[in-house]
Amino acid sequence: MQSVSQSPTEPAFVQNPYPFYARARASGDLVFWEEFNMPCATTHKAVHAFLRDKRFGRECPAELSAKPPLHLSDFYALESHSMLELEAPRHTRLRSLVLRAFTSRRIKELAPEIEHLCHSLIDAFPEDAPFDLLPSYCTPLPVVIICRLLGVPEEMAPELLKWSNDMVSLYQARRTPEIEQTANAAARDFAAFMRSYVDKRRQSPADDLISELIAAEEDGAKLSTDELIATCILLLNAGHEATVHTLGNGVKTLLSHGGLVADSQTVEEILRYDPPLHMFTRYAYEDVTLFEHSFKRGDQIALLLASSGRDSAQWDTADKFDPARNVSTNHAFGGGAHFCVGAPLARLELLIALQTLHARCPNLRSAAPSEYANLYHFHGLKTLMVST
Ligand code: HEM
Repeated sequence: MQSVSQSPTEPAFVQNPYPFYARARASGDLVFWEEFNMPCATTHKAVHAFLRDKRFGRECPAELSAKPPLHLSDFYALESHSMLELEAPRHTRLRSLVLRAFTSRRIKELAPEIEHLCHSLIDAFPEDAPFDLLPSYCTPLPVVIICRLLGVPEEMAPELLKWSNDMVSLYQARRTPEIEQTANAAARDFAAFMRSYVDKRRQSPADDLISELIAAEEDGAKLSTDELIATCILLLNAGHEATVHTLGNGVKTLLSHGGLVADSQTVEEILRYDPPLHMFTRYAYEDVTLFEHSFKRGDQIALLLASSGRDSAQWDTADKFDPARNVSTNHAFGGGAHFCVGAPLARLELLIALQTLHARCPNLRSAAPSEYANLYHFHGLKTLMVST
């Protein structure tokens, strides 16, 4: 396996990681990324294979998992009950409880509400001065919708957003002791809020996800209180972070490619071309040789989802944004056992948000160059200045 070197915090890489991915793919299906000290799957074929291989998973093998450092204990206490960090049988039990609430009927029913929210956000756009579309549109839309779906007061949105941003910053390559402390404090405060809110909600069930999860918890066998808290927090965090970035990246791409016209195919192309989450890791659960590399139990591999989307063995003219492209088996939402639970919701939000924005602001244009934030493996903009 060839080695490649690239700092994930280097400014040029943060702004445009795709040339590095092209180099990595040219070096093989698997390359050793020195800065992450692990092999990476670079091609569509390799990412696809690892996502679906049951001999690999997200949960660290028990004999290898070290006790988390004290200053991150609140963060890892939540993670230890999060379905995203677990494998079967706990993962299957938690995921099936959540999936019950994400039926396609329930998601479709949200369409009028999403559209109404888009209109009210657009009503508040300033008329003559350039403004940042991220806080005005891209961020509040998914945050408010996930609050409503769960049944959390949407007045809490700014607070939830802060806790969520602080927590997920622990996953980025640019990690400092200060970021760690802030992430741990956010996990502690978020969990304390959810615990007291769940207690309050026990007396007043409604037609929302929290009520369903509380019923499952009270049943005893299905969900522990810690799992209930961790599941709510995972959904609130995952339910907006990636959608915010995708909407921002998508508007930026569309504006520089002739305009905001979008259908569901365009949404898939945005997710292929400039996805919000670039890398996820897996542990090997047994000694196994794949793509000519021998893994020992406990070895890690990084899956470069964003590199897979630009693989010219899978897509013609892969570096070209083509809204009419028929994108299938794109890995922006992952694949296999952890395939994104919220994909149907995210797709619906993105489609309605882009179409409503186009209908209401047909002359929307970029008002300043936009930069990506230094948050790898996240890939989203710092600001998106536009004028109507
Ligand atoms: C464009 C928006 C989104 C993208 C690109 C995205 C992407 C992903 C990816 C790549 C994974 C799998 C990670 C892995 O395999 O290691 C994932 C998992 C997950 N996502 Fe999303 N996501 C998005 C929106 C959402 C939304 C709106 C929700 C919730 C309402 C959500 C909830 C989840 C959950 C709960 C998981 C964990 C699933 C499991 O472990 O079984 N996501 N997402």
